[in-house]
Amino acid sequence: MRVFLGITGASGAPYARRLLRALAGAGCDVGVCVSRAAIEVLATELYADARLSRDEILARLTEGTGDAVTIYEVDDWRAPYASGSAKVDAYIICPCSMGTLGTIASGAMQNLIHRAASVALKEERKLVLCPRETPLSTIHLENMLTVRRAGATILFLAPGFYHGRGSLETMTVDDLLDFVVARVLDQIGLDNALIPRWGS
Ligand SMILES: Cc1cc2nc3c(=O)[nH]c(=O)nc-3n(C[C@H](O)[C@H](O)[C@H](O)COP(=O)(O)O)c2cc1C
Repeated sequence: MRVFLGITGASGAPYARRLLRALAGAGCDVGVCVSRAAIEVLATELYADARLSRDEILARLTEGTGDAVTIYEVDDWRAPYASGSAKVDAYIICPCSMGTLGTIASGAMQNLIHRAASVALKEERKLVLCPRETPLSTIHLENMLTVRRAGATILFLAPGFYHGRGSLETMTVDDLLDFVVARVLDQIGLDNALIPRWGS
């Protein structure tokens, strides 16, 4: 399965890392594009070191993923994800900032992440957007409705607490990440057993 993963500058870098590893582990061919703001958030949330270079951050992020992952620059218009003629099974933006969401909703394409999302919508392919912001303004809500009406799936970075991994005392941050990542994988039709399924 060929998947595009856009990582933007909303809080939620741990979800992006977990998702990337799950996609690579499942044998997907993953094209990754990381926005400039996302580099700052990755440095802050994953490595607690704002001085890390972009190359170092990307090397750490893709560690252990073998040749499953290809990194694309934000202005790489020659990337396969910039055109509808390339075969791509699913597009995910996780986390998705309100800035990127608004740009997609407007139809503007300032970087490869916006362009890939726009291609997904025009080609009627699966596009999963994982926003994180709170509280939400009317502008945010209207942008979400716009992209939903255009065909995108809005999958908020909002973990549930009922996934059968024991009590609150034994539940870990990884369990909460897995809760959301499993829902993303379900959305793109990728079989996974990250969390026990309700009723099973
Ligand atoms: C540490 C940090 C956390 C942020 N968290 C959020 C967030 O949760 N949601 C959001 O929409 N923007 C958040 N932002 C702001 C975005 O990074 C900013 O709007 C940026 O322009 C988004 O650009 P991008 O969509 O190209 O990544 C955060 C920024 C930083 C530095």
